[in-house]
Amino acid sequence: MEKLVIEGGKPLKGTIRIQGAKNAALPILAASVLAEGTTILENVPDLLDIRVMLDILRAIGCKAEHKNETVHIDTTGLNSFHIPADLMTQMRSSIFLMGPLVARLGSVRVYQPGGCAIGERKINLHLDGLRALGAEIEESCGMIHCRAEKLTGTDIYLDFPSVGATENIMMAAAAADGMTIIHNAAREPEIQDLQNFLCAMGARIYGAGTGTITIEGITRFTPCTYRIIPDRIVTGTLMVAAAATRGNVTLERVIPSHVTSLIHVLRRSGVQITVSGDIMNVQCHTRPKRVERVITSPFPAFPTDLQSLLMVLLSLADGLSIIKETVFEGRFKHVDELSRMGADILIDLNTAFIRGVPRLYGATVEATDLRAGAALVVAGLAAHGTTVVEQIQHIDRGYDRLEQLLGSLGAVITRTSLDSAVRPETEPEPERASNPRTGTARANG
Ligand code: UD1
Repeated sequence: MEKLVIEGGKPLKGTIRIQGAKNAALPILAASVLAEGTTILENVPDLLDIRVMLDILRAIGCKAEHKNETVHIDTTGLNSFHIPADLMTQMRSSIFLMGPLVARLGSVRVYQPGGCAIGERKINLHLDGLRALGAEIEESCGMIHCRAEKLTGTDIYLDFPSVGATENIMMAAAAADGMTIIHNAAREPEIQDLQNFLCAMGARIYGAGTGTITIEGITRFTPCTYRIIPDRIVTGTLMVAAAATRGNVTLERVIPSHVTSLIHVLRRSGVQITVSGDIMNVQCHTRPKRVERVITSPFPAFPTDLQSLLMVLLSLADGLSIIKETVFEGRFKHVDELSRMGADILIDLNTAFIRGVPRLYGATVEATDLRAGAALVVAGLAAHGTTVVEQIQHIDRGYDRLEQLLGSLGAVITRTSLDSAVRPETEPEPERASNPRTGTARANG
């Protein structure tokens, strides 16, 4: 087991290039099975989730190689419709293979990805969408068998604009007979990237990025070379890290329109952001201002994936801020950990009341999920003293060597094995011991 050890209090400074988007790469890797032959994907980050997806593709007969941010997938040998349970349960995104595999092979057998740390994460919308296209779905003992001699285009209305369900349905409908219209589709940038990739393989799809996506099914897909978009959540993570450490960071290869809601909130908080083409500079020289109310919602509203990160910045702001989480029910697990670092946060159902404190203090904390973990690292960078973040396998799912990325911006952060004896120094500051709102604040040592 590894952990990250962070010496806080150093402003981040420098220039960094943003990695490719995990959440775009995963469905696109799955969609590559629609075409027979070798597809080349560029700008694919080297992450745990990507490695699991490549292992799944290999397990069903494809050849897959990942070198220098480029993946070659040869689907010629695709010979199995069964996703092994051990791989399936490692990553929820394995569910993305349902749509393309039932389209290509007429059958797919997967296992329930199950719940996860941030909420229930049902897949009913995925299954209902595939049923509407004509698939028969049998569920027993956690196994899901989806079969279709033929998929037929139809009108599908999503009760919620689920990102994954929209993507799964798009991939299946791309190979269905006739036209499918997805109403109340998710509008996230990753949906547009999937549309662009499918179209590069020959598909006829319009409307991604709006709430209505139209898909005219085709019978033959051609392998292609495609470049994945930059990761908007990694962009947002570094923007918040720059602001929380009162640093000055320039981000390259950014798509600014993908982080409009964050730019807006950070500017309200007093952070200076300038944008020129795909380059963004983020600076903060004073204590952040409080932000009255931020509500997470599907794109283009404020993303749930940046909620924990924004909370770190608002923990340091000059008053009371409120964040309401409306997408996932279990996404405040980082709050107890931030409280250990001296943050003053009160949770009432899905709303966090964050009373800014002048400082956070180093502590030993646990990453409970991917974005919670990233938030704790950012909190550690901004904090006074040493922070140890444990359970960092969650962070490795979404950030390509986060410690190197931050180290190149001047952060003092090292990855060590959990056994090595690192005992964070503590600084006896009154704020840390007296967090009246949560009662959970405690320091190391
Ligand atoms: C994707 C992202 C994740 C992000 C989330 C919301 C990937 C790989 N992951 O996850 O980082 O946090 O979008 O922006 O792209 N729901 C149902 N039934 C379903 C599907 C979803 O009720 O069949 C609910 C979920 O429980 C959740 C909400 O819809 O409350 C949003 O989920 P969804 O948009 O599907 O998120 P993911 O695709 O899982």
